[in-house]
Amino acid sequence: MPLTIITTIKEMQDLSDTLRKQGKTIACVPTMGYLHAGHASLIKEAVKSHDTVITTIFVNPLQFGPKEDFERYPRDTERDKNIIEASGGSILFYPSIDEMYPPDYQTTISVTNISKSFEGAFRPGHFEGVATVVAKLFGATKPHTAFFGQKDYQQTLIIKQMVHDLNLGTCISIVPTLRESSGLAMS
Ligand code: PAF
Repeated sequence: MPLTIITTIKEMQDLSDTLRKQGKTIACVPTMGYLHAGHASLIKEAVKSHDTVITTIFVNPLQFGPKEDFERYPRDTERDKNIIEASGGSILFYPSIDEMYPPDYQTTISVTNISKSFEGAFRPGHFEGVATVVAKLFGATKPHTAFFGQKDYQQTLIIKQMVHDLNLGTCISIVPTLRESSGLAMS
């Protein structure tokens, strides 16, 4: 089946509502695109246990610091679409920045304690950006389960805590890290 591409939150929510009414299980695989074998493994894992797998591609400006280059983050959506299809994903949610953060946007989510140490200590605001966008992606895709790589361990702890604290009701599934033959985690 060809990949269904959705760019608006309303259209995404409507489709997820319809799928849920039909009794289908929905998985979400949030990404910032430029997909590699690690992302493909998340999609393949999600396909095993869910009727519909929604992969999201959104390069989230909120999680980049002022000295981190948001503009130069690699993008190749045509290649990404092929990887999603080859991995068995059926839906791509691909919103614009304006769709996610319209001019009147005001809310950020801070998972305070876990975000302070390790990577959070070096990248102020990074995990607020991650928590905020993930909550928004969950609000748009309405997944039963979301899949994340174990590689970003602190990020997985923060997302689990946020889901717990905000009663979001999404199950978080952590998939083991895929490594290059050198042992380096794929990223
Ligand atoms: O791990 C990532 O790629 C990003 O932090 C995520 C979870 C897609 C949020 O932008």
